Amino acid sequence: MVKCVGGRGGATPEGVYQHEKTKVGQSGLGRCANIRARAGGPMTSGTRSRYPGAQPFSDDEFSAKTFFGRQRVSTVVSDQIIANRLLVLYAKSGLGKTSLLSAGVAPRLRSDGYLPLSVRVNDMLRGLVVSVYAGVGTEAHRQNVKYVAGSRESLWAFFKTAQFWQGDVMLTPVLILDQFEELFTLHNEESRASLLSSLGYLVRGVCPPGVSDENSTPPALRIVLSLREDYLGMLEDAVDDIPQILDHRCRLTPLTLDAAREVMTGPAALSDRVFSTQPFVYDADAVRLTLNHLSDHTARANQASRYIEPFHLQLVCQRVEHLVKERQQQGINRPVSAQDLGGESGLATTLRLL
Ligand SMILES: Nc1ncnc2c1ncn2[C@@H]1O[C@H](COP(=O)(O)OP(=O)(O)OP(=O)(O)O)[C@@H](O)[C@H]1O
Ligand SMILES: [Mg+2]
Repeated sequence: MVKCVGGRGGATPEGVYQHEKTKVGQSGLGRCANIRARAGGPMTSGTRSRYPGAQPFSDDEFSAKTFFGRQRVSTVVSDQIIANRLLVLYAKSGLGKTSLLSAGVAPRLRSDGYLPLSVRVNDMLRGLVVSVYAGVGTEAHRQNVKYVAGSRESLWAFFKTAQFWQGDVMLTPVLILDQFEELFTLHNEESRASLLSSLGYLVRGVCPPGVSDENSTPPALRIVLSLREDYLGMLEDAVDDIPQILDHRCRLTPLTLDAAREVMTGPAALSDRVFSTQPFVYDADAVRLTLNHLSDHTARANQASRYIEPFHLQLVCQRVEHLVKERQQQGINRPVSAQDLGGESGLATTLRLL
């Protein structure tokens, strides 16, 4: 789930932004559906895991295939990015911001003529703005886009002159500053203020003083700041430079039980030679036990409602995958049961490995 504030096009009564371009996201989903499980798929001979474990999902075809449970959120966030010059995405640590942007949002943006450029602000040697220039180039090459580098006179001039081409289509860049809390944890006041000021001109659409620009129309650009929730307040420091900094923001919430079920069962059912296991299923008791146990765990920890942290689910699913692999090597392919998970105590042991 995601809760969004602001956004051109209005908000639904639930506060979830909706935009005409939802269809684009749906076509992305249609694509995902094509690669979903087909009964009786090929034998597997690969080495890849169906679950990334502790790692975030990446921006590649494999990750997009194995990413489940965040389809609607991916569409909402993509639409918000397209509709606004700046979007802030925030959530508690580990709820899946990086994964969502990489495996859910990036493919949708690309299918709509945008180019996601994910850049970190953790380079303390080269300086923030220079590392953004370099990161953009790296990202453009990674995605096999024809890239004409921009002028390094300023961020404004850079995005005004940089060009990104896919064949004869000029793509609109989306600068995604993931782990943006690093701006506050790694950099001093002066570098921080300098980057925020440069971003401010881009967000406000105002050409910075002293920058030569024949027509001062703003560059076609979208900006996403993704950060941990506990640093959101620090963005308010930037309100002088970017008055609208918190106008359009989305809060990523933990997985609902239904989404968690998809996260668990979706990857297991995929049929593809790259996987080290053949498709497998969980029986209903195994799914129920896992979802109850993991949601009890969070409810106890936070005295709050029941939800599931994706990282916990990854631990359980990775363990199951190892078990299934061993069994399949012995020619056994039966549904994963609650007993295979070791019941409540087996799950508790898995979580204690945290
Ligand atoms: N939709 C999902 N399905 C399954 N696992 C997920 C999903 N989203 C995230 N995860 C898992 O949750 C964990 C945290 O994901 P991720 O690193 O993307 O979160 P984050 O919010 O970016 O964390 P941080 O605040 O540390 O940057 C990883 O183990 C990742 O594989
Ligand atoms: Mg992250």
